[in-house]
Amino acid sequence: MTKSKSFLHNLVKQFKRSSNKESQEEELEKIAAQEQKIFSFQTLVSATKNFHPDNKLGQGGYGPVFKGKLEDGREIAVKKLSQSSTQGKKEFTNEAKLLARVQHRNVVNLLGFCGYPEKLLVYEYVVHESLDKLLFTSGNRDVLDWKRRYNIIIGVARGLLYLHEDSHDRIIHRDIKASNILLDDKWIPKIADFGMARLYPEDQTHINTRVAGTNGYMAPEYVMHGNLSVKVDVYSFGVMVLELISGHKNSAFNLDPECQNLLDWAYKLYKKGKSLEILDSKLGSSADLDEVFACIKIGLLCTQSDPRQRPTMRRAVVMLTKKTGVLDEPSRPGIPGTRYRRSRRPVTSSSMAGTSGGSSSHSFTTTDSTTTATAAMGPGGLGSLSSVPCRKSSSSGMVSSRSDPHGKRPMEM
Ligand SMILES: Nc1ncnc2c1ncn2[C@@H]1O[C@H](COP(=O)(O)OP(=O)(O)OP(=O)(O)O)[C@@H](O)[C@H]1O
Ligand SMILES: [Mg+2]
Repeated sequence: MTKSKSFLHNLVKQFKRSSNKESQEEELEKIAAQEQKIFSFQTLVSATKNFHPDNKLGQGGYGPVFKGKLEDGREIAVKKLSQSSTQGKKEFTNEAKLLARVQHRNVVNLLGFCGYPEKLLVYEYVVHESLDKLLFTSGNRDVLDWKRRYNIIIGVARGLLYLHEDSHDRIIHRDIKASNILLDDKWIPKIADFGMARLYPEDQTHINTRVAGTNGYMAPEYVMHGNLSVKVDVYSFGVMVLELISGHKNSAFNLDPECQNLLDWAYKLYKKGKSLEILDSKLGSSADLDEVFACIKIGLLCTQSDPRQRPTMRRAVVMLTKKTGVLDEPSRPGIPGTRYRRSRRPVTSSSMAGTSGGSSSHSFTTTDSTTTATAAMGPGGLGSLSSVPCRKSSSSGMVSSRSDPHGKRPMEM
């Protein structure tokens, strides 16, 4: 090699070495960010093709969700949090990091997040998407035979039990509903949108508190008094169970003019000894009637008006999986806005656990479902992850469901 040639050769070698080093550093930075579950905005822009409308999976109360694909081939769902979240970047990062530690077979995996310039949450993409798209869309319901529905009920119960009792911090979901249950390729249910209350914290200085949840799934003591406990999730779970069995949406029920909603109807038929009449006709011969009957009863037990009488999720899992013989008799379901009294039936210790203290000592009475409710706030929630802050509200007005196009009903109370 001539002198000039060798000089050139060395220069290129040097250049190659330094660019290798740079790309190695970039690679290391990427790995470190991934370890911390941080995604750069650019990565998510590329993954979703600049949030292309064709990739939009849906839009909920917190913002739109887009499907995307990472460079390594992993499919993701990216939730763009709307600007109404006033949480600072640091707080958001801290909360999102905590939520990314939540790991369970029946809870959707939060892969990470991006805090700037927009707040984005990155989830694993769950292939059959949400339960509502199958259950409440005619023509799609056929894929949900009884075995699948039964496994969904058990899986969601286990996921909730984990959130309530076994996650690093107790998480009260507050928005259990069919659209927040995702189904993977093996039809295993995954609870989505857990811990959203951490990312949308209450305004501590404001006198009124906001009750977030979805029409038809919210427990009466939560809607009317802001009393938050794990039993709020138990109630929503019970609604979801009855929806899965019947194929009807609680909030859009119109089969019986005498009944306000699906819960009312299920209870009426149960009392007449005809509870199996709620069974979805699509289930045909696939249904195991003993299992269906037990699930109807468990759905009714979970939606009882008195939160103390509702089972804990631990008890619900036992009832679902151990076939424990005789189940308790359910009392009337709680329906927000209707008059009801606490039953005098003694309360078992297992069903008491996890109830927000004092919440059930009230007899809730209002004249109709949309009138202004005046309620002194009881003690806040037990869950540090999603508790309504404990404070007094002098008087309060409910925001009508008409104000929310997504069926979500944030309420000023
Ligand atoms: N990880 C995911 N995998 C696949 N699909 C998803 C995922 N997350 C969300 N989706 C889809 O995106 C849709 C919109 O989700 P989003 O949570 O924003 O709305 P929602 O559940 O209807 O309302 P809410 O804001 O009250 O939770 C869902 O209905 C679901 O079909
Ligand atoms: Mg959702």
